[in-house]
Amino acid sequence: MDTKIEVIGVDLSQEGEGIAKTEGGYTVFVPYLLPGEKAYIKYTQKGKRYAKGEILEIQESSPMRTKAPCPVYYECGGCQLQHFEYSGQLKWKEKKVKDSLIRLAEIKNPKINPIIGMDNPWHYRNRGQFVIGEKEGKLRYGFYSPKSHSIVSFAECPIHHSFVNKALKGVLPELEGFHSFFENKGVLRHLALRCGEKTGEVLATVVVSEPLPKTHRLDCSSLDGVVGIVENINKSRSSKVFGEKERVIWGKDHLEERLLGLRFKISSQSFFQNNTSQAEKLYSLVLKYANVKGKKVIDLYSGIGSITLVLAKEAKDVLGVEIVKAAVRDAEANARLNQNENVHFKAIDAADAFKQEKAPPDVLVVDPPRKGMEKRVIEDIVRFGPQRIVYVSCNPDTLARDIKLLEGNYNFIEATPVDMFPQTTHVECVVLMSRVEK
Ligand SMILES: C[S@@+](CC[C@H](N)C(=O)[O-])C[C@H]1O[C@@H](n2cnc3c(N)ncnc32)[C@H](O)[C@@H]1O
Repeated sequence: MDTKIEVIGVDLSQEGEGIAKTEGGYTVFVPYLLPGEKAYIKYTQKGKRYAKGEILEIQESSPMRTKAPCPVYYECGGCQLQHFEYSGQLKWKEKKVKDSLIRLAEIKNPKINPIIGMDNPWHYRNRGQFVIGEKEGKLRYGFYSPKSHSIVSFAECPIHHSFVNKALKGVLPELEGFHSFFENKGVLRHLALRCGEKTGEVLATVVVSEPLPKTHRLDCSSLDGVVGIVENINKSRSSKVFGEKERVIWGKDHLEERLLGLRFKISSQSFFQNNTSQAEKLYSLVLKYANVKGKKVIDLYSGIGSITLVLAKEAKDVLGVEIVKAAVRDAEANARLNQNENVHFKAIDAADAFKQEKAPPDVLVVDPPRKGMEKRVIEDIVRFGPQRIVYVSCNPDTLARDIKLLEGNYNFIEATPVDMFPQTTHVECVVLMSRVEK
C-alpha cells in the first residue's frame, strides 16, 4: 500500500473526490485531486475495479487549484470544493447536470443554460446546526469530523452568514453552567441557528436530551438580531439532530425573512432555502419558466409556500400541496401576511394531490425532496396532463430519472442550473417541460 503511484486527475466524483487514472488505466478515487493534475499518490484501499488513494505530492497543479480559506477545511468535511476556484466549481456543476440528463434521461443534446452562480460565494448559508462540546470545562461549538466523530472547532465558518456566526458566539455563553451530552456530562446536544439575510433576525434552537430547568432564565435581548430561543428535546441515542417536542423558552417561535418583496414567517423546523439571495434568482427563474399570467397553477411540495406565493403574484390562482402540517400552517400564515387571496394550501401527500381536482391546472410546479417524485405521482401527472411542468430539483440524478419517466408525454425544453451551495458538490436545477400534444 505504501508504493508511490503516479496518476492523472480526469474528473470529480459526485462526492467531489478526484477521479484519477494510473498509466495502466486503473481508476483511483483521490480526495482533493483536481481534473488535469498529475500527482504521486499511495493506495489506501485497493479493489479489482478501482482503488482509493491519498495525495503524496502534486507534480503538476491545476490552474483551478486555490488555497482553501477555511483553516479547518481538510478536517471538517462540510465543504468539498474550497480548493477549487469558484469558476471551476460552476463549470463542473453545469457538467454534472448535463451528464445526468444524457446518461439517465437519455436526452442526446439537452439545452442547458449557463449556471447562475454567486458574485460572492461565501457567507451565504442562513442556517446551521452546530454540535455542542466541551473543552477544559468550557462549552465549545463545531462540526463532527466525518472520519473520527471528534468535534472540529473553529472561530467562524466561511460559508455561514455573518448573522449565524455572530449569534453562535453570542448564544453559547448563555448556556454556560450546563454540560455537553456528547461528553456524557450533561444535556446540551446541538445549537441550531437560522437567520433572515434581509431582516437580520435570528432564531436559535437549543437541542437538549432533557428539558432545561424552567427556573433557568435565558435572555438574549442584549444579542443583536436574536428574536427567539426554542428548546427542542431529543432523548434518542441516534445521530438524528432534532427530536419531536419543542417549546419557546425566550422570545418568538419564528423569524421573518423577505424574498422578492414578500414576507415569510419561518419556524425552527420548516424548510426554507438555505441561500436567500440565490433563492430569489431561483424563484424568479421558476416564475419566468412557469409563465403563469392569469393561469391556474398547482405547486407540489410547497413547504411554507415560498414558490406558491411568488407564483401567486401573477397567476389566477395557486394551490400549494405539502405533506407536513406545520409547514402548511406556516404557508397559510405567510399568505395572510402578504394578503394573498388567490392561494390555498392542502396538507396532503403529493400522491393524493390530483384526486379531488376536477380539471388539470395549466401549469404544474414541482419541487420534491432529494429522492425525487414517487412513480405513482408521475403516473398521476401523466393522466392529469397539465400543459407545462416546471421541475425544481436539488438532485440531478433523480431529476433525470423522473424526466425519463415523463418521456413520450412531456418534452424536455431546457434546464438552468443554479448554484445554491457554493464550495459544496450540491447543485440545484430548474427544468421546463411541455406536454406532447397527441
Ligand atoms: C425541497 S422542499 C421544497 C419546499 C418549497 N417548494 C420551497 O422552495 O421552500 C420539498 C418539500 O416537500 C415536502 N414533501 C416531502 N414529501 C412529500 C410528499 N410525499 N407529499 C407532499 N410534500 C412532500 C417536504 O416536507 C418539503 O417541504
